[in-house]
Amino acid sequence: MPLLASLSTRFASQRPFEGLGIAACLHVTAETATFVRLLRAGGAAVSLAASNPLSTQDDVAAALAVRHGIAVCARAGVDRDGYYAHIARALEPAPDLVVDDGGDMVNILHTHYPALLPAVTGGCESTTTGVVRLRRMAAEGALAFPVIAANDTPAKRMVDNTCGTGQSAIDGILRATNTLLAGKTVVVAGFGASGRGVAERARGFGAQVIVTEVDPVRALDASLRGFRVLPMAQAAPLGEVFVTASGSCDVIAAEHIAVMRDGAILANAGHFDVEIDVRALAALAAGIRRDVRPHTDAYDLPDGRAVLLLAEGRVVNLVAAEGHPPEVMDLAFGIEALALAWLAGNSGKLAAGVHEVPDQIDAEAARLVLGTVGTSIDVPTPAQQAYLESWRQGS
Ligand code: ADE
Repeated sequence: MPLLASLSTRFASQRPFEGLGIAACLHVTAETATFVRLLRAGGAAVSLAASNPLSTQDDVAAALAVRHGIAVCARAGVDRDGYYAHIARALEPAPDLVVDDGGDMVNILHTHYPALLPAVTGGCESTTTGVVRLRRMAAEGALAFPVIAANDTPAKRMVDNTCGTGQSAIDGILRATNTLLAGKTVVVAGFGASGRGVAERARGFGAQVIVTEVDPVRALDASLRGFRVLPMAQAAPLGEVFVTASGSCDVIAAEHIAVMRDGAILANAGHFDVEIDVRALAALAAGIRRDVRPHTDAYDLPDGRAVLLLAEGRVVNLVAAEGHPPEVMDLAFGIEALALAWLAGNSGKLAAGVHEVPDQIDAEAARLVLGTVGTSIDVPTPAQQAYLESWRQGS
């Protein structure tokens, strides 16, 4: 992760987080470990909880705690209570800044620990689901501090949501099932940045891809990119692999499962485990065979069909695979680290609410990444710069 390495040198001398406590709620992966160590190099005291009950890489959590002295509260496979208890524990040091992935830490802070809110000067949110939740909080006047929507920069969306989720979701499905995608019908629910990545990568493997959407503009986008667009009720009997990436709930519901083909594979690439109605699936099933392969449960239906559910309906790329590769997280966490340093330097100047990452941070991160891979780009000439800034010149 060369960008984080170069920022580590910078932060070690500039110490942007000197004296500050940062509580992070992130998938506890090797890439996250590099990120939290960067924050510490910048002077922060970091506490870390997991942002999903199943996504923690236990060896990474142990190494961070034992070798690097980071306060980690995470273990793979905790139940719901344990998951929230870990987040609460990571908040105990009363943080100055928070870094969230999905909005659970910010939510718990506001709903269970309001006494900690006055000390929090800001936060950063890493994912679409979290930004959507924060905007709803802000609209209700419920968000007590400024949060930077690190998810929303063009570079992050392109590299993380589209390339990262596209590759790592397929990676999780292949590790869990060892299935051949070529020639299969893959149904992708949702054509946002992540769903588009999954659809494009599945097509790259030779699958016939159907997209389902509720947003007409996204549906049009999918259609113009050559995907077949259908309502889920029509896609359900056709699909052999289903991947949800919609950010919504019950996208695959009982009526869809009822008409699926024998052996259909169900995977979720969205942040929360709400997209596939797992309760309905369990209610329909005559029996469940757990772990027929790692992270694959077979649900036997009374008519003899079986449906395979991956990762218990949780985010398949982090549970059945290792999440996005380091190159992706280098840029995503690089943007987040620069945004946090900017936030720390502007403490008290931003109003409570959701804020965009300043454009220059996105450009700086992309430029640094290009530098690390030895790619250089053109610089506008003075005449080009003047032209781009002027409205007077026509043809
Ligand atoms: N989100 C997606 N992939 C990730 C990874 N490798 N580490 C942390 N968060 C992630």
